[in-house]
Amino acid sequence: MKVLVTGGAGYIGSVLVPALLDKGYEVRVLDNLMYGGKGLVPCLINENFEFIRGDVRDEKVVAEALKGADLVIHLAAIVGYPACKKFPDLARTVNLDATRLIDKLRDKSVPIIFGSTGSNYGAIVGEICTEESPLNPVSLYGETKTEAEQHLMNSGNVLCYRFATAFGASNRMRFDLLVNDFVYQAVRNKNITVYEKSFKRTFIHVKDMVRSFIFGIENFEKMKDNVYNVGSDKMNYSKEEIANEVMKKVDYYLHFAEFGTDEDKRNYEVSYEKVRALGFDTEISLQQGLDELIRASSMLDIRNEYSNI
Ligand SMILES: NC(=O)c1ccc[n+]([C@@H]2O[C@H](COP(=O)([O-])OP(=O)(O)OC[C@H]3O[C@@H](n4cnc5c(N)ncnc54)[C@H](O)[C@@H]3O)[C@@H](O)[C@H]2O)c1
Repeated sequence: MKVLVTGGAGYIGSVLVPALLDKGYEVRVLDNLMYGGKGLVPCLINENFEFIRGDVRDEKVVAEALKGADLVIHLAAIVGYPACKKFPDLARTVNLDATRLIDKLRDKSVPIIFGSTGSNYGAIVGEICTEESPLNPVSLYGETKTEAEQHLMNSGNVLCYRFATAFGASNRMRFDLLVNDFVYQAVRNKNITVYEKSFKRTFIHVKDMVRSFIFGIENFEKMKDNVYNVGSDKMNYSKEEIANEVMKKVDYYLHFAEFGTDEDKRNYEVSYEKVRALGFDTEISLQQGLDELIRASSMLDIRNEYSNI
């Protein structure tokens, strides 16, 4: 089976692609390498790996990338509300128009697994989000991902995963993700200022995301034309709880501030019952991820990699 991974050089993709190759899949990546391509260098020795450097908004490039692909994992996007706010036109064209383009150009018998996000729920307080909860995105990131998801779901032969926020180390490291950021600040700067400390968020290790994609490929017929929250009920934490868990492992100064706000207004708990009922649950705990990130924080420098763009 040949799998096309758009955005395969990114944070998730550069952990996913080697795992797919290990499983024996042929993998073609389409990516414009906004953050470089270093993460995929170890794949180059594998003759089942193919790379196309190009833009997912370019019709010719996408048509070429789809040739012979048996399944598409669509990850290419402008990710997170700060990057989308800074480059709104880019966010709309990449997150939404390119998703429509891929859908238009694929043969409808070619399945798509779409990396969607819990940001689609927006500010839902006091209730636990299920896949049936209303979508109330409050950032351009959430809006574009929601519209892209709805477009694909109307098209069919699609599996949508609304992921929790990732954490953990990747070949294309992101320190702008909440857990990764907290650990980096604690290890390198010895202090963290946390605002909206009681806000609840939900997390998943990047390797568990990868396992969920493989689970999705293997169970596609059973799962298709559905949306699944992907994460674990064990992994709903407040920001304060995360900061305190980091404190158990790193000595740093923790300050809770009364100012500052997350523009994505994310404060929500999510139910993962639907995907768990099919047999998928996460394996890597927050504490294991923290140990990994503590090691990563002393090894990697933020520099250009701190912000997502
Ligand atoms: N990381 C998370 O916590 C998380 C959570 C939920 C959903 N997601 C979704 O998963 C996907 C991947 O996220 P990530 O964390 O790996 O982000 P990332 O920013 O590390 O990766 C995105 C990749 O897309 C590529 N890309 C961007 N614009 C492109 C274009 N015009 N043409 C070709 N390639 C382009 C980038 O070069 C990059 O390699 C995104 O769709 C994101 O919305 C991520």
